[in-house]
Formats: sequence, C-alpha cells, structure tokens
Amino acid sequence: MKFDTPATTNPIDRLRVIGQPLDRIDGPLKVTGTARYAYEQHDVAPGQAYGYVVGSAIAKGKIVSMDLAAARRAPGVLAVVTAENAGKLDKGKRNTAKLFGGPQIEHYHQAIALVVAETFEQARAAAQLVVVKYQEEKGAFDLAALKGAAPNAPSEEDSPTQSAVGDFAGAFASAPVKLDQSYTTPDQAHAMMEPHASIARWDGDKLTLWTSNQMIAWGVGDLAQTLGIAKENVRLVSPFIGGGFGGKLFLRADILLAALGARAAKRPVKVALQRPLMFNNTTHRPATIQRIRIGATPDGKITAIGHESWSGDLKDGQPELATQQTKLLYAGANRMTSLKLAVLDLPEGNAMRAPGEAPGLMALEIAMDEMAEKLKIDPVEFRIINDTQVDPEKPKVPFSQRQLAECLRQGAQRFGWDKRSATPGTLRDGKWLVGMGVASAFRGNLVMKSGARVTLGKDGIVTVFSDMTDIGPGSYTIMAQTAAEMMGLPIDKVKVELGDSSFPASAGSGGQWGANSATSGVYAACVKLREAVVQKLGFNSADAVFEDGAVKAGNRAVPLTQAAGDGEITAEDTIEFGDLDKTHSQATFGGHFVEVGVDAATGEVRLRRMLAVCAAGRILNPKSARSQVIGAMTMGAGAALMEHLVVDKRRGFFVNHDLAGYEVPVHADIPHQEVVFLDETDPMSSPMKAKGVGELGICGVGAAVANAIYNATGMRVRDYPITLDKLLDRLPALS
Ligand code: MOS
Repeated sequence: MKFDTPATTNPIDRLRVIGQPLDRIDGPLKVTGTARYAYEQHDVAPGQAYGYVVGSAIAKGKIVSMDLAAARRAPGVLAVVTAENAGKLDKGKRNTAKLFGGPQIEHYHQAIALVVAETFEQARAAAQLVVVKYQEEKGAFDLAALKGAAPNAPSEEDSPTQSAVGDFAGAFASAPVKLDQSYTTPDQAHAMMEPHASIARWDGDKLTLWTSNQMIAWGVGDLAQTLGIAKENVRLVSPFIGGGFGGKLFLRADILLAALGARAAKRPVKVALQRPLMFNNTTHRPATIQRIRIGATPDGKITAIGHESWSGDLKDGQPELATQQTKLLYAGANRMTSLKLAVLDLPEGNAMRAPGEAPGLMALEIAMDEMAEKLKIDPVEFRIINDTQVDPEKPKVPFSQRQLAECLRQGAQRFGWDKRSATPGTLRDGKWLVGMGVASAFRGNLVMKSGARVTLGKDGIVTVFSDMTDIGPGSYTIMAQTAAEMMGLPIDKVKVELGDSSFPASAGSGGQWGANSATSGVYAACVKLREAVVQKLGFNSADAVFEDGAVKAGNRAVPLTQAAGDGEITAEDTIEFGDLDKTHSQATFGGHFVEVGVDAATGEVRLRRMLAVCAAGRILNPKSARSQVIGAMTMGAGAALMEHLVVDKRRGFFVNHDLAGYEVPVHADIPHQEVVFLDETDPMSSPMKAKGVGELGICGVGAAVANAIYNATGMRVRDYPITLDKLLDRLPALS
C-alpha cells in the first residue's frame, strides 16, 4: 500500500482499541521472567557451548603475535577463533570498525579472539591465557586538541552537513543583541540492561541466530555480507530486547563471533559481551563541542542564528548531527549550520537515543536561555516569539503539524512557571537554592517502509507476523491494538509474533519511527485481510463494517469465526510513504520544565519536579507512550547530571567502562515526573495519524536542567555533565 494522501475515514479513527491505555500484552511474560532474551534461549539449540570475547589491549596499532596454545589446552576448550583462523571476512556496510579485529587494531577492546568452551567459566578462564604481543601506534584521542584542524563532515544525500540561508555573518554582526557561546557534551554510553548477546546454530550452510537486535533486516544483510554467505541462509530471531537505545541498531561482535565460534566448534555457541568490554567494544554517543551564535532585535525576534558542532569518529565514520534541530526549531532569516568531523581512534561513535537532537538541544536550549536573559524576556515567551509554522530553511515546506507554542504555554501554566523568580539565586528552601528551567523539545518524525502479514484463523484469532522488534516501548501491544481496531476485535483475540527475519520486513526499531511506521504496516495488511474476508463472505466492501467480532452490513452480521472456513485467511502488505518527507516537514514537539534544588554548601543538585508536554500526533497507547517519555526524561536527567565516558587521552579508551563507574540515574535521583500529551492527530503522518515519542522525551531535558541550575544559583555551566565540582568554587556560603 502506498500512503501519500491523508486518510479521511478509516477504521482506526474509531478509537475503540487504539488510543486506549491498555496494559502491555507481553507484560505477564516480562514480569514472570518467561520472556526469554537472547542469552536465555537455552532450548533452541541443544549442546550450546560458551564463547568469551578477548578485547584488544591497545587502541591503535597491530598484533605482532598471538599465542593460543595455553588457551587451547585449558579444560573444556573447544575452539579459539581469531581473525587469522576465521576464514575470509568482509564488513557489513553499517559498521565503521571491523567487528573482529587483527592484525590491524582500530580501537581499544576491539574483539580479537573468541574462546569457546563447554562452560562459561572455562571459556573465561581460558581467555586469560591468550598471550598477545602488540605494536602500538600513537593515536588521536582528544577532540578539543583536533578541533581547529577538523574539516567539514562529508554530506550524505538528503542530509547536508553544511547549510546557509541569507547573510548570517552580516546579520549577526549588526544584531542589536547577540550571544556567542560554546558548549560541550561528553561521550555517552547506551548502558542498556541487557548486554549484546547471540546464540548461533549452523544447520549445514544455514545459519540461525537468536540475538538482541533492533533492525532485523539490516542485521541479516550485514551479517551475510560479513560472512560472505547468501542472505537467504541467515535467519535472525530477536523476540525480546532488554533495551537498545541505538546500541543494537547495527551488528556487534557477539553475533559475528557466535557464528564463527559455532562453525569452529561444530556446536551451537552463545556469546554475550561482558559488561566491562561493552563500553569500548561497541558504539557510543560521541562527544561534541558546539558554538552557537544568536542575534536578535530588542523585542526578541531572532535575525541571525548559527550553530557549529565538532565531533570525532574513526576514519570513514560519521559526525554527531548536533545541528539538526537548529535548522528547524526557530524562525530567523539569516542562518548557518556546520558539522566538523575529526578523525579519532576512540571506539566507534554512532546513534544513541535521538542522535543529533539530544546533544544538539543540550547546547541550543542553554543558548536560548542565555539570550532570553540578555533580552530581558521570559524564556518561554522568547521561544514562542520565534516559533515558525514553515521550515525556516525551506519556507515552501510546511510542518505537517506543529504545536510547540502550545506545549510551552500549557507547560508553563501547569508547572506554575509564574512562580519562578526571574532573578537567579534568589529563591531558597532551607539549605536548597531552588530554580526552574525550561527547554523546547524537538525531534524529527521519520517514516519508514514497513510490512506485516496477518492471518485470521477459524477460531477467530488474528495473528500478526512482522520482523518488527520490541526494544521495550510496547511494539507488541500497539501492533495488536491496530489489528484489533481494524478487524473489529477485542485485543485478546489478537496475537503478535515479532522479531524473526522469516516474517515480513518492517521498519524496525530506530529513530522513534517504529510505532507509527510498524503499525501502519499492520494497517495495510489488515486492509487486505478485510477485503479477503468481505469477498469470502459475499459482502460489498463499501458497506461492510467490522465490529464486535463480526462483519456487518444492513441487518446481516456474520461472525469472523466463519470467514476462514476450516483453514485460515492470510494477507500481507507493506506501507510505503511516497515523497511525504519532501512535501512536509514532520517533527514532534514538546516543552520540558524542571525544578531543581542545589545544596548551597555542597553543590549537590537534586531534581525536584519534571514536566513534559508533548505534541506527537495521535498517541496510540497513552500508558506505554507515557512510559517512553518518563524513561527518556530519566535518560535526559542522566545526561544533564552524571553520564560521562571519561577518555584516557594517552591510551585512548573509556576509563569508566562498567556500571559502577558509568553513572546513570537510579530511582532515588528521579523526582515526580509528569507527562502530558496534547490532543493531536497528524493527518499527514500515516493512516495511524501518529508519530513517535520515544526520543522526543529526552530532547531538551539536559538544557532544562542546566537552565534550572542557573536559575537556582546564578551559575551558568556550559559543559556537561553538571557535576558538583563545576559549581563548588562559586557557591554562596551557607547562611
Ligand atoms: Mo535509535 S538511536 O535510532 O535506536
């Protein structure tokens, strides 16, 4: 089905199942521990052996020799695989560094060997016996030192890294009020609960992998290419994923090494990346240095806005797209953005929840706060003054729907913004300096082609099959809701099977496109299924109504259980979005409001209240959508206050590479969180009229926290995370 015009009437709009705050259909499996994650698929392949990964101890250089003899002799060892004995390997197109290194080493903890043994403990013990001699080369690890020489990042089709409209330099120079500031964000880790893990089983030349991966179809293609085998011979199964945040968009070492280990050991092999290996072995969100210049008239109209961002990655890697939102968020006739990319020998940088906007807004939305202060305009008001209903770079392209101003207004009202003191450092609650901060939230709404197959059985049960994944947001549930709504069934008459490459290829889980795109794929397949049912039962498709488990027209009603006869009816389709992304700018919007307390003596920052008001199209399930947003707000709080991969600039690795050293928020860090969704249906986004929320929720949170800290203390911190050492020397004495 090609979707390129607004759907005027469609069964989804009945909102009997869609739009309801239903519990997750996979909830019972999750809470009883019976939803099995990749490493727990104990019975899918008998005789599973265990692989343990050896990571490189240098960041750059080459392996001179590897002595595997002692490891091979160790108890229980079945095989030791290295790049040298693994056979010819290519690289999938989505991996920048090789998943299996050697002799050349591209980054610290790049996988260089897999030890396979009867038990995990034997594999781990034997891995310590692998002796590696390296020839280390000097690497580049310091983004700040390379900043001056970093060239423009190469542009991708549809995603230019440089943009210019009007005369930015002239307009900025002559602006009556202006700001020119720099901000930094650190490297961050996805730090998901479930480590990357895979079980591999070969049946002749057919390879099956139980894994944890967000994008099944990409994974099949990249693994087939890496191994040099036909895609048809690779099957990925990933029914449950314990978090991904972008870290499982692409293949990681576990899946390739499980496949190679199983081939070498002639047994099914399971591999999980050990937690202390993950941080340097996999990808991370790259650090940025950002310079923002804003010029405005005294009444607060932006006349010039410029945003440059520097980030680093391995050779042939990608920039962090931190200027993305600045192209679209605020009006202003004269504008420029520029992304610079330095070559670094740190582990591969790549997508992490809201890549681009998450770190970009951490800078831009502090700059907006600073500018509002210079203008003596309330920061909520300053943002509303500069709202726009068209793409500021392409004035002929309207937003399909944009309620940023409404989010900010409603948020301010609900949060009690009028009680904020405009003068920083003036509100006190005992030992706490108290302040409020605001930031806009913005995240693009991508649409991706997505397929599904649906069957109706003689029991009246509809089953949805798709390679879509559920990384936690509730894909199972909203896809079931979609099929239930389309077929006029209650949700308990729908089953959903996901995450298997033998099912139709879907949008997958990434870039917050999953909810809208994957449900639209189910919609398309159900349109076909309805047609097949109508034909079979001799109804006229124009009058047939699907409701209460029956097809009805006039005074005739036939239960769906009769449609399939003795067998089942199957329909399959794929939704495609035409040139929707060219005719309309699609995005999601929000306002984040945060209240903090800062200990006047120690500089400790405590969050006191958080509110997000979101405009993100139709909310398919308010309960799971709210969970997405509060999770994202929590991650945003982590980015503001604690998350920081610390680079060892001599040896080139992330020092704090475990969950003891890499701090993320825990329950005690998070206060009352409130999430409000504006009542919105986006007629352009899809037949579902929905968008995504999973990334919107993190966008802007960091800056809202930073701005609240400024409002509380009068101290402007422009380098994240805002740890107490950055406040301590300037704190007012405890009085
Ligand atoms: Mo997302 S960073 O595309 O999982």
